[in-house]
Amino acid sequence: MKKTWFITGAGRGMGVDFTRAALSAGHAVVATVRDVDRAADTLGRADDLLIVKLDVTSPADAAAAVHAAVDRFGRIDVLVNNAANFYAGYFEELTPEQVERQLMTTLIGPMNVTRAVLPVMRRQRFGHIISISSSAGLAAGFDFVSAYAASKFGLEGWMESLHAEVAPFGISATIVNPGFFRTELLTQQSTNYAAPSVADYDERRGPVLEYWKSQNGRQSGDPAKLAQALLTIAGQEPPPRRFIAGADAIATTEQKIADLQAQIAAYRELSSSLDFDAAE
Ligand SMILES: NC(=O)c1ccc[n+]([C@@H]2O[C@H](COP(=O)([O-])OP(=O)(O)OC[C@H]3O[C@@H](n4cnc5c(N)ncnc54)[C@H](OP(=O)(O)O)[C@@H]3O)[C@@H](O)[C@H]2O)c1
Repeated sequence: MKKTWFITGAGRGMGVDFTRAALSAGHAVVATVRDVDRAADTLGRADDLLIVKLDVTSPADAAAAVHAAVDRFGRIDVLVNNAANFYAGYFEELTPEQVERQLMTTLIGPMNVTRAVLPVMRRQRFGHIISISSSAGLAAGFDFVSAYAASKFGLEGWMESLHAEVAPFGISATIVNPGFFRTELLTQQSTNYAAPSVADYDERRGPVLEYWKSQNGRQSGDPAKLAQALLTIAGQEPPPRRFIAGADAIATTEQKIADLQAQIAAYRELSSSLDFDAAE
């Protein structure tokens, strides 16, 4: 069945793969980007492709892009909240403005776009919202991801509740948790590192920074394969509520489940003893 996909961050990174895969499968795509000219060079032209400007931090952009999408294709079936950036660093060294920019792009951004798309999907009594989270949206016990993980954990809580709210209208919601995929996320176009400012972190900062920089271009995940997987899950009826993307992401998730189970077991008795005593 031909569907209309609406993809954010479609001009660079895995959004390009999602766009190409959906077009190749015969779908129509609204590729939303911040730089329309650059995206046109990357994506080319096709009857089923509409490239529209959308900075996800702008509710006005989101409304205009949805309007353009419906004008051109009449409907929006699949929304992919994909756009993101990465403010990396120790929480104490990230400025409040950097944390705010992280949340604005990666948490509030998907909300802006989804708020604009939902009236269209409700009218249709059909739609599928896919939000690209991260394995850091499930487990984040390592240095430099406090702001990014806060945005992705927030994205997940929002998506889980949203699913309950809109499922009665025939709208599904899927969280995707990628592990490491070889995109442009760890380049300087997408990653901003906090400036060193707290001497207590001096010894640890260097090796952690080196680790993150060294991962750029060496990530094991192939975004073209993830794009095919997205087509597969978007074709399911009903689609899955969550898709863990990558063997590394499965390992992270299994560890998180084991940690939670161990934490429950360690304090089950104390945790279970907190109700009011039964009335005599
Ligand atoms: N790659 C990984 O290893 C990995 C792992 C886990 C999760 N993810 C998630 O996967 C998704 C895609 O990331 P990626 O790896 O493809 O990263 P990427 O190569 O850095 O691409 C990021 C995309 O987001 C767009 N973007 C950034 N800020 C935006 C804004 N304010 N408005 C609209 N678009 C904006 C960028 O557009 P511009 O060209 O305009 O900057 C670009 O198209 C993200 O949600 C990311 O968190 C990636």
